[in-house]
Amino acid sequence: MAKIGVGLDIGANSIKVVELQGGLKPRLNRFGKAVLPEDALNAGEIKDRELVGKVIKELFAKTKIASKRVVIAVAGQAAIIRHIKMPLMEDSEIANAIYWEAERYIPFPVDEVTLDFKVIKRYGDQNEMDVLMVCARNDIIYSHVETLRDIGLQTVAVDVQTFSLMRTAGLEGTNTEGAVALLDIGFETSDLMILKDGIPLFTRVIPLAGNRFTKTIAANLGISSEEAEEIKMNKIDALSQSDATQFGSLEAKANFAMQEGLKEMALEIRRSFDYFHLQERNEEVNRLIINGGGSLLPNLAAFLNRELGIDVINCGLPQGISVSKKFKLKIEEELPFYGVALGLAMREVIPE
Ligand SMILES: Nc1ncnc2c1ncn2[C@@H]1O[C@H](COP(=O)(O)OP(=O)(O)OP(=O)(O)O)[C@@H](O)[C@H]1O
Ligand SMILES: [Mg+2]
Repeated sequence: MAKIGVGLDIGANSIKVVELQGGLKPRLNRFGKAVLPEDALNAGEIKDRELVGKVIKELFAKTKIASKRVVIAVAGQAAIIRHIKMPLMEDSEIANAIYWEAERYIPFPVDEVTLDFKVIKRYGDQNEMDVLMVCARNDIIYSHVETLRDIGLQTVAVDVQTFSLMRTAGLEGTNTEGAVALLDIGFETSDLMILKDGIPLFTRVIPLAGNRFTKTIAANLGISSEEAEEIKMNKIDALSQSDATQFGSLEAKANFAMQEGLKEMALEIRRSFDYFHLQERNEEVNRLIINGGGSLLPNLAAFLNRELGIDVINCGLPQGISVSKKFKLKIEEELPFYGVALGLAMREVIPE
């Protein structure tokens, strides 16, 4: 195990970095984030490499992270995750065979993607096995790896954001009662994953997240996105009861507009749960864990609990990670931003 693990989460809205010091109880040593301009990334691919490189360099300097080895992740929308059935074979044979299988499942030529897999179950009697296949387009991965290389950083592993969050939430390889859903509410998209016993069974990218909420408020109130963002950050409560007749204050109008966006999001989640229920022989999702900047909205968990009728909680600090006193308050306040980066750093310092 490495002495230091650095997780770097390059999001559409901001870059987050976390450094964990390995040991019996890994410790959160350093962390920080830096905002990116809106067009620096597109669908998970880094478009402005120079600028993103510069922001990362400054972020490392600001957080005093000296390690040159980082773990990164591609966004949910840049990853293709499929459950496939393959003839029974050894792991060493799968690495080759899966490229042939993949042709049927992915919408790109297989030589343009990087693939990984995990055998979920082997059925000896039927001579077949369930395999989880994960892949991402090479140009997306290269856009990250090369941006980092250009500023002297080495990518030691590439994960998928939702997989990393599984680790942070303590769901990886853990038996759960019923199915559990994870929702990362970011900037342009919200990544949904449903798992059972630590195995992802369903993933979906919901095209609704923080930026859409801001835009809905801006359009409804006829104000700029900057003004709408300011109101969203300070005046919105997910359980607000504002209605059209209260159109006196800006705050009430904004809350009313936000309710529209939130109800749409709850509906999309509900639809996914229903689909999952049908696909997985009546399996119920009975817990939802939320993460991402969008989950900082006051009372969002309570709102989703009311709309979905299941337990909804905010993703907490990973078990087994300690935090020094001086960081405790700050990390608790900003934790939803760091869920992905934490899981990435954990890969390096926590044995599987
Ligand atoms: N207190 C808050 N209340 C509501 N929304 C918030 C709050 N704080 C941040 N946000 C929203 O969180 C969003 C950014 O979240 P996050 O940093 O998780 O996105 P990202 O990781 O950069 O994007 P992505 O994961 O989609 O690539 C912004 O749209 C911002 O408005
Ligand atoms: Mg994110």
